[in-house]
Amino acid sequence: MALKERDEFSGQMTTGHEWNGIKELNTPVPRLLWLFLISMTLFALVWTLLMPSWPGLSGYFRGLLGVDQQQAVRASLAEAEAERAVWTARLAHEDLTDLAADDAIMAVVRQSGSMLFGDNCAACHGVEARGNIGYPNIAEAPMMWGDDAETIVETIRVGINANHPETRYAQMLAFGRDQMLSAPDITLLVNYLADLSGTPMLAREERDAAATLFADNCAGCHGEDGRGMTDLGAPDLTDAFWTYGGEPAAIRHSIYNGRQGVMPAWEGRLSAAQIRLLGLYVLDLRSATR
Ligand code: HEC
Ligand code: HEC
Repeated sequence: MALKERDEFSGQMTTGHEWNGIKELNTPVPRLLWLFLISMTLFALVWTLLMPSWPGLSGYFRGLLGVDQQQAVRASLAEAEAERAVWTARLAHEDLTDLAADDAIMAVVRQSGSMLFGDNCAACHGVEARGNIGYPNIAEAPMMWGDDAETIVETIRVGINANHPETRYAQMLAFGRDQMLSAPDITLLVNYLADLSGTPMLAREERDAAATLFADNCAGCHGEDGRGMTDLGAPDLTDAFWTYGGEPAAIRHSIYNGRQGVMPAWEGRLSAAQIRLLGLYVLDLRSATR
């Protein structure tokens, strides 16, 4: 049974509870705490009058100060949208050379471009656009179709061997499979391409025979000197870049079976502004890596 008693040291009553000889004083709540509770309640009431607060049947009490976070968010979204609309309109319509010379535009291009490229292009061309086997290095290699801004944007728009009425066609013929060249001729040409790229493989007479083969069968697309023709998308065969690999087996495969790489057309999947932005992005990568 709890027994209340007066504590002899403090003169206060105890609560009557006892734990192993330890008793608890029944001290009243300090007055300051009451003051605190009352002032906080008042503050809360005033606050609900000033700020949006009490729910009602048709909406809520808006508060005397007229504070509205939703409106603030709407305003800043509208501002961002307006800014974006300005960039988008400029990217879609202005001359590409002017855009490329505009630092503010190029800052947008670098930022949005790396995201767009990562989402749409990196799967084939690699994150740094340096290509993979079967997918050209578009950051460093000479462009098969030409490397001015308009041409790059057009390639992205219509694709290559793609499902687009204006697509570009890249047709490397299957000289072996379609029996246009014999196996020894193809071997001669494989070695000739190594020669052209700076690794001499052929004796003098062989080289002459190979040069004739090349002039008769290849120069129409790749050029007399093998440096490619952008009108036909035929690559330079004398440089260090190969879409399909530069080792003899890969080159033999290219000549024997032909190649018709497919680059998807992006018109319809990306907006005109996005396609032009990506063209500028690729151009910017190229100027940075060379
Ligand atoms: C499905 C794979 C694939 C995707 C995705 C892809 N490409 Fe390509 N792209 C290729 C292939 C393959 C070629 C080369 C076609 C050929 O060999 O003729 C190419 C060629 C190109 C060329 C021309 C290169 C030259 O030498 O002229 C450009 C520019 C290009 N791609 C940019 C892009 C951009 C930008 C994107 C993203 C919007 C993209 N590609 C997405 C496969 C792809
Ligand atoms: C009708 C035009 C045409 C003719 C003729 C032609 N090529 Fe090509 N060649 C191309 C095109 C276009 C490509 C690019 C194909 C692609 O990437 O999809 C190519 C690609 C190649 C490649 C692969 C290059 C790489 O980067 O991996 C080699 C090798 C090649 N050609 C060698 C030859 C040789 C050798 C001949 C002559 C026997 C020849 N070509 C004749 C159009 C032609």
